[in-house]
Amino acid sequence: MKKTLEYLKEKKKNNQKIKVLTSYDYPITKILEEADIDMIILGDSVGTNVLGYQNETEVTLDDMIHHTKAVCRAKKDIFLVVDLPYKTYETPEEAVKNAKKLIELGADAVKFESIRKDVLVSLKENKIKVMCHIGLNPQHDQARMMQGKIAKGKLFSEAIELLNGAISLDKAGADLIILEKIPGKISKIITENVSMPTIGIGAGKYCDGQVLIIYDLLGINERKYKHSPTYINIRELMIKTIRQYQNEIDNDIFPNEKQTNIIDDVEYNKIRDWCLKNNINV
Ligand code: KIV
Repeated sequence: MKKTLEYLKEKKKNNQKIKVLTSYDYPITKILEEADIDMIILGDSVGTNVLGYQNETEVTLDDMIHHTKAVCRAKKDIFLVVDLPYKTYETPEEAVKNAKKLIELGADAVKFESIRKDVLVSLKENKIKVMCHIGLNPQHDQARMMQGKIAKGKLFSEAIELLNGAISLDKAGADLIILEKIPGKISKIITENVSMPTIGIGAGKYCDGQVLIIYDLLGINERKYKHSPTYINIRELMIKTIRQYQNEIDNDIFPNEKQTNIIDDVEYNKIRDWCLKNNINV
């Protein structure tokens, strides 16, 4: 079943949770399709999770284009949101030009960080579906993050700014919004006062949906985060499996007869005789 924006909005209306994960490539997208997830976010978290970058500000539009193509080769029914990376929406015109490139490749919507009504309105005027992203904004909050100040909205002034921001983005036509690292009680107020679905990450259970970084969920990342339980430790499983593979090579267990191509005896004898005649060891 196609997961359209209308389908996601209907879920909010019916108090049904929206389930979201990140994906950056073809095989994971195929798996998420099979697992029937509602939405994929191809976030700029691709930078630290896949590309080995220091932080989100290093991610380029070309990186996002490359990964959008890979995800779209597997995408069928899931709603796909792709991030506009750092400094690609400095002006509304730039935002529209860059968003169109991602939409043309198959993204259903684009996402940008911070409370920028001018950017939102231009995207909407160009019939582009938009997910906003407030709370912790990694593209703009690196200095804060270095000081370990991850949560946003714990103080009155910050919480009011987030609440007013969410309401004004909702009124200006935002289709969806990420609430990142916002206290659960503040996310609840926001969720109850906007018509667009809210998707939380480290923002408590009252959001309309939840998103996690797929590599955190699967335990591929070494780092553990407060907001993200590890459902399975794939990293450990992978290391164990790779060790077993090496061990089997050392002990002549792999490859075995079944995994080896067989040559017919008659043909082999001809080759052996030829080798002997030509002084080739056999
Ligand atoms: O970059 C990202 O993966 C995000 C998450 C909050 C979904 O923005």
